[in-house]
Amino acid sequence: MPGDKSISHRALILGALAVGRTRIEGLLEGEDVLRTAAAVRALGAAAERGADGAWTVSGVGVGGFAEPSDVLDFGNSGTGARLMLGALASTPLTAVFTGDASLRRRPMGRVARPLERMGARILARDGDRLPLTLMGASDPLPIGYTLPVPSAQVKSAVLLAGLNAPGETSVIEPLATRDHTERMLRHFGATVVTTARGDGREIRLKGEVELKAADLVVPGDPSSAAFPIVAALILPGSEIEISGVGMNTLRTGLLTTLGEMGARIERVKARIAGGEEVADLAVRASTLTGVEVPAERAPSMIDEYPVLAVAAAFAKGKTVMRGLGELRVKESDRLSAVAEGLAACGVAVEIDGDTLTVEGFGGRPRGNAAIAARLDHRIAMAFLVLGLAAERPVSIDDGETINTSFPGFVRLMNGLGATMAEVKA
Ligand code: S3P
Repeated sequence: MPGDKSISHRALILGALAVGRTRIEGLLEGEDVLRTAAAVRALGAAAERGADGAWTVSGVGVGGFAEPSDVLDFGNSGTGARLMLGALASTPLTAVFTGDASLRRRPMGRVARPLERMGARILARDGDRLPLTLMGASDPLPIGYTLPVPSAQVKSAVLLAGLNAPGETSVIEPLATRDHTERMLRHFGATVVTTARGDGREIRLKGEVELKAADLVVPGDPSSAAFPIVAALILPGSEIEISGVGMNTLRTGLLTTLGEMGARIERVKARIAGGEEVADLAVRASTLTGVEVPAERAPSMIDEYPVLAVAAAFAKGKTVMRGLGELRVKESDRLSAVAEGLAACGVAVEIDGDTLTVEGFGGRPRGNAAIAARLDHRIAMAFLVLGLAAERPVSIDDGETINTSFPGFVRLMNGLGATMAEVKA
């Protein structure tokens, strides 16, 4: 599997904020992460790929970023843009942020509001959209912030801004979200204390710290593994093994759900690598049954709903997925993209508020559809997976978008026996 996208962004950003050289093994070299690498370089850090494939970041220290001489372009990446807003919010410089058409539609108010409370000034387009200009605070204030939406990106932005603020910055999350930032901050020497609070957590960070460079190993991305996993489950006769997949429990909601549906997925050789749980996964084609997926599970599988909906289309009976409001503000409106795409493939679906219901076929749906990828890599991959096992092929209108998170996806799937090919115009 390619390296974890969330962890790769954080490795570059924290490496750039640390003093000394950080070596990163297994960095995801997808478009999104390469944009973050370019951004930290534009801010004065060095980030280079070595001949052995490992990356080295030479950091500038907390508060050491220099004002960039040009616009920072984060491409398709909400994580890159939001985390870097936080990383720059408590340093007195001016930076202009932009991205592609998808990212320029996505809400930035969720990070702008807390960062403004810390003293940053942010001037954005209507609806808090990019392009925006950030003026970092010269006297940053620590804050206590309760997340209005369960978002690891917002939590991380506040914590990164808190690094250069005096005193203690704290975040309360009503539902626990991925904790890669907290883990990696500790790895770089910061004091981060996490306490359980109901279904959520309180995270407290001591500010004005010096981060020390620390080597990292990036595990395989469970959100990328989701695609070959579901493909193997729905294609009769399949049996695959995927090595080195990140198993952080705040990321494994899909495995829990597929397990409840009857999927035969075995975790082999569970271990710790680079401060994160990792395992190899053995996956065998399975007969799936529809289930109810509770809203509280959403943060631990937020990027996996498109491909879960595909698995649900092959299952016997109904799958009901609740609490999907956040899917509307991802790389595309994934709730409508999934529903429209499945309907085009002959699957009965219903959206009711934030709930998506898929009527499983208990076999192969028709397929035979042309799907608009909407600048959304996960929509593109989910429908290619559906096409693999449907009665008739499925096409997507943009394969390039897959490179944001999973370069080599088509080659890897074809290596497993799939037939995915570019349609020549
Ligand atoms: C991410 C968090 C999630 C996820 C995104 C990556 C991260 O977004 O959808 O792909 O790396 O922190 P939210 O935290 O905004 O839900």
